[in-house]
Amino acid sequence: MSQERQLTTALAEAAATAGHAPSVHNTQPWRWRVLPEALELRTVPDRRLSATDPEGRLLAISCGAALQHARVALAAEGWRAVVQRMPDPGDPELLARLTDLSRTTADPDAMRMVQCMSVRHTDRRPVSDEPVPTAAIGEITRAVTAEGCRLQILNQDQVLELAATAGRADTVEAEDQELRAELAYWTSQAGSGTGLPPEVLPDQPPQTTVPGRDFGRPGSLPVGPGHDRAAAYALLHGDEDEPDSWLRAGEALSAAWLTATRLGVSVVPLSAVVEVPATRQTLRQMLAGIGYPYIVLRLGIADPAVAGPPHTPRLPADQVVDTSAVRDELS
Ligand SMILES: Cc1cc2nc3c(=O)[nH]c(=O)nc-3n(C[C@H](O)[C@H](O)[C@H](O)COP(=O)(O)O)c2cc1C
Repeated sequence: MSQERQLTTALAEAAATAGHAPSVHNTQPWRWRVLPEALELRTVPDRRLSATDPEGRLLAISCGAALQHARVALAAEGWRAVVQRMPDPGDPELLARLTDLSRTTADPDAMRMVQCMSVRHTDRRPVSDEPVPTAAIGEITRAVTAEGCRLQILNQDQVLELAATAGRADTVEAEDQELRAELAYWTSQAGSGTGLPPEVLPDQPPQTTVPGRDFGRPGSLPVGPGHDRAAAYALLHGDEDEPDSWLRAGEALSAAWLTATRLGVSVVPLSAVVEVPATRQTLRQMLAGIGYPYIVLRLGIADPAVAGPPHTPRLPADQVVDTSAVRDELS
């Protein structure tokens, strides 16, 4: 196979692999364009949560997670890429371009991460009574730092404050008709390849220290009697509150989550507290002004006696990866 053909194949495969990335309400708000010597990541405005996420913070975080997946998939196949984030100020939907691709040795760590991509999932049920080992917390934190963000593990008082803050965010969101309608839409997309099917949503509110998102309807995932007392809560944050820093936050979220998956640590993102401006401000105060909050993470060890939830569906690759510019090379 010629080097050009190898490259376009690797780009198309990396974009398809990025489909495993997590996204808010499983909106998968991204589209990839494979070019002869580059890969472009664009947002899909139709899949933006206009009521929940008017600024596009969670959209950019979701797309950042997909970007990190694609970067790792390329590294696993032995390709080095230069990443241009927000490369064109006149085209804000173009979030990133992977360019200047060159051959290198396949990275074994990246290969392991790629294996974790298809295993990683969100399990909203309580975790076991086993605390997350300190060494695992350290590795997850380092994965975040390597992506240019920070992870603050909350102390007991801060967790209680977070619990109260999450409760306030829930109340605000429950009273917002538009937001409820948006949630109802994304929890009733059966068969579309997007959204949250009932099988992944708890059949009753799980007993957690910090309330999880109220999805407005019970799912069919059985929740046992456990409580997630042993879970750790962490705040992913960084220096800026701008679209390119949200993109990086998504890359950091993805790196942290894949690292956690490799270490057997379950992650649940909690974003309602950053969606509501007043509670986002409370989180900012918890950071004592040293940064801007991007998302909260619950870290825990899943109960080994309980099978994981089913996988949340994804859009087929041909709906998210545009290969029309390289069709001849791929055929
Ligand atoms: C930016 C972002 C915000 C999220 N917010 C929440 C949340 O508040 N509550 C929740 O239960 N899951 C949340 N999730 C998890 C998604 O719902 C989940 O990733 C998506 O449905 C795909 O499922 P999977 O992670 O099992 O592949 C969030 C994910 C991302 C990337």
